[in-house]
Amino acid sequence: IDPPMIDPFGRRISYLRVSVTDRCDFRCVYCMAEDMTFLPKAEILSLEELDRLCSAFVGLGVRKLRLTGGEPLVRKGIMGLIRNLSRHLDSGALEELTLTTNGSQLGKYARELADCGVRRVNVSIDSLDPEKFTRITRWGKLEPVLAGIQAAKDAGIRVKLNTVALKGVNDDEFYRLIEWCGENGHDITFIEVMPMGDIGGENRVDQFYPISLLRSHLAKRWTLTENSHRSGGPARYVTLEETGQRVGFITPLTHNFCESCNRVRLTCTGTLYMCLGQDDAADLRAPLRQSESDEALVAAIREAITRKPKGHDFIIDRRHSGPAVERHMSVTGG
Ligand code: GTP
Ligand code: 5AD
Ligand code: SF4
Repeated sequence: IDPPMIDPFGRRISYLRVSVTDRCDFRCVYCMAEDMTFLPKAEILSLEELDRLCSAFVGLGVRKLRLTGGEPLVRKGIMGLIRNLSRHLDSGALEELTLTTNGSQLGKYARELADCGVRRVNVSIDSLDPEKFTRITRWGKLEPVLAGIQAAKDAGIRVKLNTVALKGVNDDEFYRLIEWCGENGHDITFIEVMPMGDIGGENRVDQFYPISLLRSHLAKRWTLTENSHRSGGPARYVTLEETGQRVGFITPLTHNFCESCNRVRLTCTGTLYMCLGQDDAADLRAPLRQSESDEALVAAIREAITRKPKGHDFIIDRRHSGPAVERHMSVTGG
């Protein structure tokens, strides 16, 4: 690629996260309000347009592509897009094609995903208690998610659990979640809640559980040693010496990792966000639709990269209890 995408801080952009829909079949209490207004269908790019956009990024040196949402597997026809994108795996241009999912539809799609070259998926689970799971997701059911994880495993796809640490909600389950992952051969990462979007009557100051506290909690039970494993994302890992398993931490609030950021995010309307925690964005839909050649599109992408900010400035405390950015995590898929 000539030249690769390098931002003003010398960071090489090799990872694209694509939110293929802002819709979701759950309403996790830290992610969305119960009553949400989603984008009108007319605003949303077609799957062909998404393919063209993703492919332009691959042409510019993106090596890792992650589909997110909302819930990516609720988008109609999504498997067609994944199958098409898998040609970039076959050609060797792409190293990894993967997704972050709530797992509700994974039972249905696991085989086909494996068939498209998906080797790893991240599944969000904040509780292994069926009632609590339903409370957190507002109406989600745990059982199909567990069945989906099993289906992925059976299809040869590695599963990483994503658990948002929530004070007073799942902080009594951290040991159990880790043990369950150990027994089933999954990795797990714990995530600090981020102040994105209005979540109705819920309050992130009350939800926030710092990962530093979680680490000291885990250290009472296991010996933690730093692990240099990196999955390409922001997680830092430790090994539990007693079991040998890997546990990751994503700490946007207590330990900023923006310095090594390698990614940008595309929404389902073709807006490119250069940072999860900033509002600045670039419209790629206009140059996409303006011409069948990718020239204007590539120029717009390169221009956007020159505007990538240094990092987010998320903050959660009593004086800053509102969202740092208006949009929800589901718009940019994290
Ligand atoms: P892998 O490392 O490839 O497994 O992926 P990941 O853990 O980076 O991605 P995943 O989609 O599973 O996201 C897990 C959590 O990390 C989500 O809450 C994301 O919002 C968060 N996350 C991912 N990338 C960033 C980032 O650049 N900045 C911040 N602040 N959070 C991020
Ligand atoms: N803060 C942190 N993580 C969040 N997620 C959704 N909303 C938030 C938030 N406000 C997580 C989901 C999923 C991932 C994509 O982002 O649980 O694992
Ligand atoms: Fe849906 Fe994921 Fe948000 Fe939960 S966290 S509402 S599963 S997008």
